[in-house]
Amino acid sequence: MKNILVTGGAGFIGSNFIKYVLSNFDHKVINFDKLTYAGNLENLADIESDERYKFVKGDICEKKEVEKAVEENNIDTIVNFAAESHVDRSILGAKEFINTNVMGTHVLLEVLKEKKLEKYLQVSTDEVYGSLPEDKKELLFTEKTPVTTNSPYSASKASADLLCNAFYHTFNLPILITRCSNNYGPYQFPEKLIPLMIAKTLNGEKLPVYGDGKNVRDWLYVDDHCSAIMEVLNKGRIGEVYNIGGNNEWYNIDIVKLILKKLGKGEDMIQYVKDRPGHDRRYAIDSSKIMNELGWSPKYDFETGIETTVKWYLENESWWRKVMSGEYQKYFESNYANKLI
Ligand code: NAD
Ligand code: DAU
Repeated sequence: MKNILVTGGAGFIGSNFIKYVLSNFDHKVINFDKLTYAGNLENLADIESDERYKFVKGDICEKKEVEKAVEENNIDTIVNFAAESHVDRSILGAKEFINTNVMGTHVLLEVLKEKKLEKYLQVSTDEVYGSLPEDKKELLFTEKTPVTTNSPYSASKASADLLCNAFYHTFNLPILITRCSNNYGPYQFPEKLIPLMIAKTLNGEKLPVYGDGKNVRDWLYVDDHCSAIMEVLNKGRIGEVYNIGGNNEWYNIDIVKLILKKLGKGEDMIQYVKDRPGHDRRYAIDSSKIMNELGWSPKYDFETGIETTVKWYLENESWWRKVMSGEYQKYFESNYANKLI
C-alpha cells in the first residue's frame, strides 16, 4: 500500500487519476491542490468520503506547505499533475506557467531529495517534442526525439522535465517521466478543444476553429492515461521517460464536425478564426516503449470514448455552466476577441 501525494488532483486528469487509483488499488491518496480556476473539488464529490482519500489545499511553489503535507500524511510517492495546462493562456501571459510548472516542480524535487521519498512521477506532455510535419505520416515522437518547444506552456513543461532529469542524474533520485498526447473525457475544463466545442454547440454559439483546422492531435481517453501512469509508477525503470499515446490522429476540423454530428447540428456553426500564434502543426506519439516494456495498451477506442464524453457533458450541464461563468468570461474575451477574421 502506497501513500501517494497527487498534486493537481482537483483538475481534469488528476481527478480522474484519483478515482482510477481508488477503484483499482488499495493506496491512500492525498490530493494537494491550489484550486486555481482549473481546480474543482466537485470533480471528486463521489469519492470524498472514501477514508483512503484526503484533500489538502496547497501550492506546490510553497515548500513549507508541501513538506507539511508530506510529513503529516507519511507520503512515500509523489505524482505531479499540478500545472498551468492551457497553451492559449500561456500566450496571454507566461508568468504563472513558469512559477507553477518550473519553480513548483523544483520545490517538489527538493522535497523528494530531503525526505528521501520512494518515488516521484512527473506527468509531462508530448508538446515538449515540438511539431511534426503533416506530410510525413511515418514520423512519430519517440522518447529519443529532441526536446523542441514552441509555446511558453511547452517550454515550461520541458524545463520541468530537464530539472527532473538533472535531479535523477545528479542526486540519484527515483524519478520517472511520462509524456502523453491530448486527453479527452469527463471533467475536462471547457477551454480545451473537445469540451469547448461541445459546450458551444449546446449553447447554439459558433465554434471557433483556429487557422485552417488542419492541425493534427493524437487523442487518448483520460482513463487510458491514468492506467499508463500506474504502469509506469509500478514497473517503469527509474530515470526513464515513457511516451503515452492513442495512435489516434485527427485533424481538428474533423473532431469539430464529429461533435456537431453527434449533437445533431450542422456545419454552418463552424467559424474559422485567426490561428494560435506558434501553433504546432502535428502531434503523434510512438507508444511502443511502454507497450513492449510494461505491457500497457489503451482500452478505449475513440468511438466509445467520444460517445461517453459527449454523453457526460450532456448529463452534467450544471458542472460546465458553473465553471464557464465568472472569471472564464474574461479569459474567453481576451483569447477570442482579437481572433475574429
Ligand atoms: P488542469 O488544468 O485541468 O488541472 C491542473 C490542476 O493543477 C488544477 O486542479 C489546479 O488547481 C492545479 N494547480 C495549478 N497550479 C497549482 C499549484 N501551484 N499548486 C497546486 N496545484 C496547482 O490540467 P490537466 O489537463 O488535468 O493536466 C494535468 C497535467 O497533465 C499537467 O501537468 C499537464 O501538463 C499534463 N498533461 C495534460 C494533457 C491534456 O491533454 N490535458 C496531456 C498530457 C499531459
Ligand atoms: O498534447 C498534450 C497537450 O494537449 C497538453 O499538454 C495540454 O495541457 C493540453 O491543453 C493539450 O494542448 P493542445 O494545445 O493540443 O489542446 P487544445 O485543446 O487547446 O487544442 C487542441 C487543438 O485544437 C489545437 O490544435 C488548437 C485547436 N483549437 C483549440 C481551441 C481551444 C481550436 O481550433 N479552437 C479552439 O478554440
